[in-house]
Amino acid sequence: MTVSLRFRFVFLFLFCTICVAEEERKIYLVMVEGGPPVAFFEDNTVSRKPGKKIDFDSEVLKAHAKHLEDSHDQLLQSTLDEGAYNKLYSYKHIVNGFSVHTTPTQAKKLKKAPGVKFIEKDRGVKMMTTYTPNFLGLPQGVWTTEGGDSNAGEGIVIGLVDTGINPFHPSFAYDPWNGYPRNRTQFPGVCDVGPHFPKSSCNGKIVSARFFAAGAQATGKLNASIDILSPYDSVGHGSHTASTAAGNHGVPVVVKGSYYGKASGMAPRARIAVYKAIYPSIGTRTDVIAAMDQAIKDGVDILSLSIGPDEPPEKTITMLSMFDIFMLFAHKAGIFVVQAAGNRGPGPYSTVSYSPWAVGVASCDTDRTYPSSLVLGNGQRFNGIGLSGPSFGAGLLKYKLVLAKDAVVANGNFPRTPQYIDECQHPEAFDPVIVRQSVVICMFSTGFSNGTSTLKDIANTGRALGFIGFVFAANPSYGDFIAEPYPFSIPGIVIPKANDTQMIMDYYEKKTERNNKGVAIAYHGRAAIGEGRFAKYNTKAPIVSRSSSRGPNFIDIKRNPIDLLKPDILAPGHSIWAAWSPMSVKTPILEGCNFGLISGTSMATPHIAGVAALIKQRHPSWSPSMIASAMATTATTYDNRGEPIMAQGRELYKLHRSTPFDHGAGLVSATNALDPGLVFTSGFDDYMSFLCSIPNTDPDFIKTTIGEPCSHSFRSPSDLNVPSVTISSLKGSQLVRRIVKNVANAVETYVYAVVPPHGVAIELNPPWFTIVPQGTQDLEVKLIVTQTNDSFSHGEIILTGSLKHIVRIPISVLPISM
Ligand SMILES: *[C@@H]1O[C@H](CO)[C@@H](O)[C@H](O)[C@H]1NC(C)=O
Ligand SMILES: *[C@@H]1O[C@H](CO)[C@@H](O)[C@H](O)[C@H]1NC(C)=O
Ligand SMILES: *[C@@H]1O[C@H](CO)[C@@H](O)[C@H](O)[C@H]1NC(C)=O
Ligand SMILES: *[C@@H]1O[C@H](CO)[C@@H](O)[C@H](O)[C@H]1NC(C)=O
Ligand SMILES: *[C@@H]1O[C@H](CO)[C@@H](O)[C@H](O)[C@H]1NC(C)=O
Repeated sequence: MTVSLRFRFVFLFLFCTICVAEEERKIYLVMVEGGPPVAFFEDNTVSRKPGKKIDFDSEVLKAHAKHLEDSHDQLLQSTLDEGAYNKLYSYKHIVNGFSVHTTPTQAKKLKKAPGVKFIEKDRGVKMMTTYTPNFLGLPQGVWTTEGGDSNAGEGIVIGLVDTGINPFHPSFAYDPWNGYPRNRTQFPGVCDVGPHFPKSSCNGKIVSARFFAAGAQATGKLNASIDILSPYDSVGHGSHTASTAAGNHGVPVVVKGSYYGKASGMAPRARIAVYKAIYPSIGTRTDVIAAMDQAIKDGVDILSLSIGPDEPPEKTITMLSMFDIFMLFAHKAGIFVVQAAGNRGPGPYSTVSYSPWAVGVASCDTDRTYPSSLVLGNGQRFNGIGLSGPSFGAGLLKYKLVLAKDAVVANGNFPRTPQYIDECQHPEAFDPVIVRQSVVICMFSTGFSNGTSTLKDIANTGRALGFIGFVFAANPSYGDFIAEPYPFSIPGIVIPKANDTQMIMDYYEKKTERNNKGVAIAYHGRAAIGEGRFAKYNTKAPIVSRSSSRGPNFIDIKRNPIDLLKPDILAPGHSIWAAWSPMSVKTPILEGCNFGLISGTSMATPHIAGVAALIKQRHPSWSPSMIASAMATTATTYDNRGEPIMAQGRELYKLHRSTPFDHGAGLVSATNALDPGLVFTSGFDDYMSFLCSIPNTDPDFIKTTIGEPCSHSFRSPSDLNVPSVTISSLKGSQLVRRIVKNVANAVETYVYAVVPPHGVAIELNPPWFTIVPQGTQDLEVKLIVTQTNDSFSHGEIILTGSLKHIVRIPISVLPISM
């Protein structure tokens, strides 16, 4: 059953998979030899010191950039036929390469040309589609210690590569009482003006805004009326993610005349740098990479990616796609990189976040729900979803209940498709006398399963014909679906369980008189729709979302596992209120809305970006891997009932106990992450050793793609110093090395406890240690198989400090032989 997709992934991009004439041009990403990229040129500090930015405008670096760009042009000129290609971008800040629009034949020539290291076809990107500050405990926790909501995130710049931003939104407004001084961030604020994006858009809150469209334009798929060539967001997705990370505090959420409370970003005083690279009609990796290159050059503190490739690369290892390489160099430049784990759950091996240098975020719901109800004339009550007011009479007065199918005009001239009959998409199909002042039951059918029918059109039909309200019911022959709360312009309720539909239909049939041809002639069934706009805050939470992508992490398209945990961390991503764009070209039901309540790991990702901004504000000198470690070791694996976190699985409404492959380290705790006690850190050289120790990888290939030789490697990839232990085939026993650093400012003694995975014994050496501030301690984890198993088991090591720091390390092991 894939029905839920229609409701969840309103941002689905369809990639063209149709075979085309052989010599159609495609976009290729090319990396070349011939000098280091600008950021790593000569005497520049190789790893950028936090707070000290590379001066890309210095004469020597500008000259080097020009030299690289010229060398790209020369290579293309000397290799390819004149007129047979079009260079889209030179990438020169972080990697030395370019993207080019050309034919497969020309691309083959390029591949063989001397100096070309690596070539990858652009296979597109996808968007991974507030009350959450309270759910995460920010107002009483981190915000207080950082000077309240008027200072939380101050001075930190969060860069987002997305669909742009709606600059007119109050979440991004300049506050005259507490201005956003431009000099607090020293950020090179370039503002591309254009349609719907006046110069005043970059107002100090939005410190910079650019758009990248060469790749999208080359595909010829852009439609000028929706694909706007400016940083303006015509989709809503980019505004949503930006406001979740860093939207202003206390912005009233008003949608279709109803007030839903106030919204706030996680780091409401952080600044936003916008890099638009995705358009409603198409998103290319070429544009995304150009955007990342610029963000790295600009020196954002945090790079938030609610977008990315939606599948593993075909020809290389997962961690060496161009997208992942750019994230590696962003990390090397001192930027905290966070990416969506993907929306391909709940099956295993579905993560699209692979690399240790980017934090992959899984999605969960919060304890807030918007329950709505349908009450029948016999008193039976059904729970459903719909952000609408009650039917007239506060849901107490009951109205005639009519099944859409029974109200169709007998001899009307319209196609007899499900869209016209069951799905209420077309008012002309109905007898206005029957449906007026009635509660009408519309049914899920093919139009919804292939995405052509919309809830908006049901509401429009209802409005045109004077329905009291509508019921949109799961169809027993399709099964249950997952419904998101969308705002409806008339009373309406979605009944997502087919069994409930069955019971409603039983009542309806009993109460409906039919003639001997089966045609309904009198309707005695009655129903009322209840209030659906009031939130309740008592649901068990968090629960890992069904669609959130899962581990184990893997190395290639064959899904060979790798000894590294993914996803990394869990954050709220289900039913998130945040800023929207009234144009809403991909989500008709939110057209005209300034806020959207939507779901996906796209929504979870900027929560982590915002929390990272709060940590960075408190600890400006912390490296990206220190921030990631602090979040991971202090995350919680318990829910608001004090029970282990649960996860949704394949079967709707059935939960199973969540594992690190669902939730990573657990739900982020911003307050605890500010003071983790110990951290596990890694840098560029460690990632090289990690890559070079992956079995069956060619060191030459790594050197070619990254530009550095495999000068050393770990005994096993599991020795990478991450705050987790993952072993995808444990034979007998294995030693895993870790190093912790004390980031607290006191001497502390730690002891350990273990919750062993099933069939594995674990020892930690030394069993206890005392560590001074800034000191480090080597640890050795010994894992011994006691019973083999054919699936992964999970456990954890818990280090407890004498000053009450608690450091949790999730363990995932597949014990294959004794
Ligand atoms: C920023 O500018 C304001 C005036 O616009 C000035 O009062 C303040 O001292 C400046 N801050 C820094 C850090 O330069
Ligand atoms: C461009 O988009 C508009 C608005 O969605 C639509 O009406 C029009 O048909 C589109 N044009 C093309 C060529 O797809
Ligand atoms: C969706 O289904 C309807 C009804 O079967 C059909 O008419 C329509 O062409 C389908 N659209 C797509 C995009 O598959
Ligand atoms: C639906 O109803 C059928 C029979 O009435 C029952 O066997 C089944 O378990 C129900 N399913 C759910 C998900 O409640
Ligand atoms: C495999 O591990 C699971 C728990 O992860 C456990 O329930 C099961 O009994 C184990 N199977 C065997 C054969 O040990």
